[in-house]
Amino acid sequence: MRIDIITVQPGLLEGPFSHSIMKRAQTKGLLEVHTHNLRDYSTLKHKQVDDYQFGGGAGMVMMLEPVVNAIETLQAKVQYDEVIYLTPDGETLNQQMANQLSLKGNLLMLCGHYKGIDERIRTHFVTKEISIGDYVLSGGELAAAVLVDAIGRLIPGVLNDETSALLDSFQDNLLAPPVYTRPEEFRGWKVPDVLMSGDHKKIDNWRHDQALERTKARRPDLL
Ligand code: ADE
Repeated sequence: MRIDIITVQPGLLEGPFSHSIMKRAQTKGLLEVHTHNLRDYSTLKHKQVDDYQFGGGAGMVMMLEPVVNAIETLQAKVQYDEVIYLTPDGETLNQQMANQLSLKGNLLMLCGHYKGIDERIRTHFVTKEISIGDYVLSGGELAAAVLVDAIGRLIPGVLNDETSALLDSFQDNLLAPPVYTRPEEFRGWKVPDVLMSGDHKKIDNWRHDQALERTKARRPDLL
């Protein structure tokens, strides 16, 4: 999968993909992430990318021309399955969306800043608008990083044990059951006996019951 990200803050996206699973996905050639500085696509003096909003009001708006220039330059080289705008008024990201997006070949992501982007970009170029939750970030970059991570780890071959992504919380609309590792006892706090029993049928049943209990208690809306 190839993901291109258009941003006014490329520095914010240097860290998240250089570590751990996202780094491994790229090293294995399963994921390519390219960031593009929007200012490089501005033809204006001082590489301007934002301007005052028509009708007045506080806050700048990301201008049409640099964004269109960036999108069309990239589209001339790559056929994108989706052009995604990260915005708090988009559809809220969930596991099902991440699953669907992980099956795509090429994604273009656009990070908003200031008061947002000129509405005409949303109307004419953006195919999907995604929010990572009901709160407002300073820009779309951290949201894009979250989205790339959620998608990237689902690409077949990225995780060592492919089944482990399938057992994540939310994959079957259940939260994940509790997990334990050594030591078997610490300060008198013991690991549940069933996990030490070696009876895999019993362990599977226990995990499912725990997942159900946890979901009922914490996220009944998922059931
Ligand atoms: N940009 C600012 N806040 C955001 C959010 N919650 N989700 C996606 N993009 C954003």
